[in-house]
Amino acid sequence: LRGPDFRLDVDELRAAVGPRTRFVLLNSPHNPTGTVLTADELRAVADVAIEHDLVVITDEVYEHLTFDTQEHIPISTLPGMFERTLTLSSAGKSYSVTGWKIGWATGPAELVGAVLAAKQWLTFTSGAPLQPAIATALDDEPDWPRALARDLQTRRDLLCDGLAKLGLDVRRPEGTYFALADISSLGWKDGMEFCLALPERAGVVAIPAQPFHDSGAGDQLVRWAFCKEASVIEEALSRLSGADLSG
Ligand SMILES: Cc1ncc(COP(=O)(O)O)c(C=O)c1O
Repeated sequence: LRGPDFRLDVDELRAAVGPRTRFVLLNSPHNPTGTVLTADELRAVADVAIEHDLVVITDEVYEHLTFDTQEHIPISTLPGMFERTLTLSSAGKSYSVTGWKIGWATGPAELVGAVLAAKQWLTFTSGAPLQPAIATALDDEPDWPRALARDLQTRRDLLCDGLAKLGLDVRRPEGTYFALADISSLGWKDGMEFCLALPERAGVVAIPAQPFHDSGAGDQLVRWAFCKEASVIEEALSRLSGADLSG
């Protein structure tokens, strides 16, 4: 996904497939861009996977955190895809318990079995005492994640409007709880340098987008999080507006 619109480049995907390719790794809703792939984009990924007999491993941890009219479509639901898709999700995002590390892998028995075999020799289990809490949440609170998304949408707008007022070119995300902003307008070229200076200049922390990609095309992009109380976002914006942010 490349700026400025961060849509899927299907030709680039096709060009990346070679004789040794076995998997497509997919993430939608996407961290850090906030892009939610459309039905057409997912269909294009599915076509490539079917044509080259690839398995799709899809990270959908933000599946419920979409905004406005944007809907998340699991790629496993597309025709011909269930049998070649391993879907990953997490309570950490849907129930706002980052750090609990409770998630799940779903798909055909063969692919889930492969995950179990690997997990057995890696971490074996994860947060066992927390698992009954998540089972209760899944059974009794199925609507909670969508309510969280509605609430996050308000906080998204608070953060994005505020950053735009500061002169940043900010992209309003369709999903997740992150927003990317271009810091060139403030006179910066390098997001890493900007993020290292930000705590001292403003008492605010953001994340450079650089570690998320290897193309160099997004060096001027910075990721801001809005999974915070509205009062915290307001305080951050007020600190930013009172600080010298020029590069
Ligand atoms: C796209 C994506 N996948 C997976 C994870 C990990 O989720 P968890 O901490 O619940 O294991 C994250 C967390 O930041 C994420 O952004």
